[in-house]
Formats: sequence, structure tokens, C-alpha cells
Amino acid sequence: MVAVEKSFVTSMFSVEGKVALVTGATGALGCVLSKAYGYAGAKVFMTGRNEAKLKALEEEFKAEGIDCAWFAADPAKEEDVKACIAACVAKYGEVNILAVCHGFNKPASVLDQSVEEWQYIMDADCKSVYIVTKFVAEQMVKQGKGGKMVITTSQRSKRGMAGYTGYCTSKGGADLMVNCLAADLTAKYKINVNSICPTVFRSDLTEWMFDPESQVYKNFLNREPVGRLAEPSDFVGYALFLSSAASDYITGANCDCSGGYLVV
Ligand SMILES: NC(=O)c1ccc[n+]([C@@H]2O[C@H](COP(=O)([O-])OP(=O)(O)OC[C@H]3O[C@@H](n4cnc5c(N)ncnc54)[C@H](OP(=O)(O)O)[C@@H]3O)[C@@H](O)[C@H]2O)c1
Repeated sequence: MVAVEKSFVTSMFSVEGKVALVTGATGALGCVLSKAYGYAGAKVFMTGRNEAKLKALEEEFKAEGIDCAWFAADPAKEEDVKACIAACVAKYGEVNILAVCHGFNKPASVLDQSVEEWQYIMDADCKSVYIVTKFVAEQMVKQGKGGKMVITTSQRSKRGMAGYTGYCTSKGGADLMVNCLAADLTAKYKINVNSICPTVFRSDLTEWMFDPESQVYKNFLNREPVGRLAEPSDFVGYALFLSSAASDYITGANCDCSGGYLVV
């Protein structure tokens, strides 16, 4: 008898009925992943600092029949994160999926950036990942049913760039943290932790790079075998895969989703 179950194959990508907590839900990637989890049948609990945007997303998603709620919180603040997880549990009873989509950058040369500004980037992009994953992990362990964590880092986690001592260092730290979290959490608690590492995708901050006449755009295309820059929706498949049973044997991975940026 060939050893694969039909029921596993036909349902392995499902997140139906799961509770997905999304940080940075107000951002370009976070709002797309939130809606995508909702379309896939998950209950979506959105967080970010911007209440007005969270409220607007809730209205938009509910009008489409998505079961969702939100809580305003700063992911770099321990008390905010604890309160956010408690609110999610009060609303939906549990947390099954964590998608980390918040992030911040303020590029400046090491010669021009203050220690305080560098630390702010480190807190926004690295310490926050520790705080969010730590307290969600505690909740998932309490539930005793395992879980999935998908952390957005960057291809800049693996290579340096002028003006990026804060961003690259924090994203590199987050990717290594993912390796450690997997070692702490997967075998014992069935909590898989992986990161997705994009190159440039469209957001308010990167829109200017999508001008086909600009040299930045042309330079990028020379490094993108897929032949275009990314849209946030390009990461939906990866996020659902890493949130579902299909990826049960994948943990601690820093997953390339760069359109082939690494191969040329
Ligand atoms: N766009 C790209 O080209 C690109 C490429 C590689 C990696 N990434 C990474 O992918 C993730 C999502 O990117 P995105 O383009 O969707 O970002 P985005 O549109 O700029 O949104 C990110 C969200 O993070 C929150 N945020 C901003 N500053 C923060 C801070 N100081 N502390 C805590 N939260 C903060 C904001 O929500 P609130 O204001 O509501 O808190 C914002 O909506 C980020 O981690 C980013 O670094 C982006």
C-alpha cells in the first residue's frame, strides 16, 4: 500500500477555522495576508499601532464575510503584546497562526546615524519579533495543539548595504532567531517557526522603485529572473503553505521568496 493519505493531500493547505494573528496588519503585506487568511476561512485577528487603519480594514473585511477583529498594539512593547494576545484569546479562544508583517527602516550611514536611532530600528525589527514570538509561543504551548509562525524578514538579512546597519542587522537577527525558535519549539511543542525573505515588493515606501524608467527599477530587473518586482499578493501562497499542515516538516527555514534574486 502506498503510504500517503488522500484526506491529507486534499486538505493539507487548509487554514479553515484557524485563528491567525497578524502584526503590521495595517501595512502593505499585512493587510493582504490578513485578507488572504480570511478568504481561506481563518479567523483573522489584526494588530498594529494605527487604530483608524485597523478599523477601516475590519469594515472592509467584514463586508466580505471575513470573521475578523483587531487590537491596537506596538509589537516592540511587552505589555502591548501581552494585551493583544489576551484580546485575541478573549475573542477567538486561541491563537493557531502568527504572521509577523510589521517593520521599519530609516537608512543612514553609520557615520550619520545616532546610537538611539539605530537602537530604535533594532527594537522595531528584532526585539519586537522576540517579544511577539515569545508570548504567542507561551499561549500556543498552553493550548497544547502546536502552531505555525511565519516571520517576514528580508533578503537584506543575509547581505549588507550602505546605510543599512540597523535594518540588515535587525533582519539578520530575526532570521537567526527563527532558527533558534524552531530548535526550542518544534520537536517538543509542534510549533513550526519559519521566515520569508523577500526582495522589494510594492508598498507606500517602495512605490517609487516601480517606475519602469528609473535606474533603480532597471537595476533590480537585471537581478530578478522572474522578470518583475513583487506585489504583496506574491507572498500569499508562501504564507498559507507555512501556516498549514503541508509544511509540518519545515521549520527554522529562512525561505527565499525573491523572484530568483539569489541565482544570478
Ligand atoms: N516592502 C518591501 O519592499 C520589503 C522588502 C523586504 C522586506 N520587507 C519587510 O516586510 C515586512 C512588511 O513590509 P511592508 O512593505 O508591508 O511594510 P509597511 O507597508 O511599511 O508596513 C509595515 C507596518 O509595520 C508597522 N510599523 C511601522 N513602523 C513601526 C515601528 N517603528 N514599530 C512597530 N511597527 C511599525 C506599521 O503599522 P502601524 O503603524 O499600524 O503600527 C506598518 O503598517 C516588514 O518587516 C518589512 O521590513 C519589506
